[in-house]
Amino acid sequence: MPGTLAQAKLLDDEIAAVQGLIERRISERVPAAYLIGSAQFAGLTLRSDARALVPRSPIAELIENGFQPWLGGRPVQRVLDVCTGGGSIAVAMAVRRPDWQVDALDLSPDALALAAENVALHGLQSRLRLLQSDLFAALSDEVYELIVSNPPYITEDEYAAMPGEYRHEPKLGLTSGLDGCDACLRILRDAPRHLAEHGLLIVEVGEAERALKRLLPELPLVWIEFSVGQMGIFAIEARDLRAHRGAVERLCRARAQRVASHQQLAG
Ligand SMILES: C[S@@+](CC[C@H](N)C(=O)[O-])C[C@H]1O[C@@H](n2cnc3c(N)ncnc32)[C@H](O)[C@@H]1O
Repeated sequence: MPGTLAQAKLLDDEIAAVQGLIERRISERVPAAYLIGSAQFAGLTLRSDARALVPRSPIAELIENGFQPWLGGRPVQRVLDVCTGGGSIAVAMAVRRPDWQVDALDLSPDALALAAENVALHGLQSRLRLLQSDLFAALSDEVYELIVSNPPYITEDEYAAMPGEYRHEPKLGLTSGLDGCDACLRILRDAPRHLAEHGLLIVEVGEAERALKRLLPELPLVWIEFSVGQMGIFAIEARDLRAHRGAVERLCRARAQRVASHQQLAG
């Protein structure tokens, strides 16, 4: 009823409440989604607060397009959202695809509590399972046709230069080592164990795309074009990931050894 709304008059206390929110937005730089407690994602309203990042992954566009042409005609039953935060990607996938069984994991109990509220908000409890897990650690032998992830991928230097709004978001959801690639490399290393033979992995790495290409130039990552251009999101087939497993494992081992020897020197 837009006509009726346009004629509505705000009461004095309502005006004061809105002005208070605008004041906090400007002076404290609190994200608008946190101030009003909700955000829009892939056409859905979701609860949003400081327990998880404001939902904003461009993966929303892939969900709305049914992950085409990347999924093609392959049959999909089980999908996994790694680093689900407040559950935006998992919830949107489950709403769009009533035939999919969705698992979603995160390390942060706070983020998972928010995700549980979003699962309940959309009545998805029977088809969407939330797990507290350090990446794939809490999974046993689960296998998925599609694994999607929006992990942290900001470098410490980038984080230091980010606007004040980001300080209101949990740092665990933003930074991932000196080059932003720590979480992504662990996902590339461990995903093969949980991907179906004809499975597909899709990961958002943002600006860490350059570092990742330098680290693993031979990995056949397909960088996805979005309506607004390239967004640092790649797709890779399970068989290609398996073919390069040795190189990814060696790289992860070398990086872990470097971190351990730095810690030894520092301690
Ligand atoms: C970029 S945010 C994901 C945002 C999410 N798409 C949303 O809308 O809320 C990254 C998430 O990764 C989680 N995370 C960081 N390290 C993790 C780890 N080792 N295992 C699982 N989750 C992790 C953070 O808690 C955060 O929720």
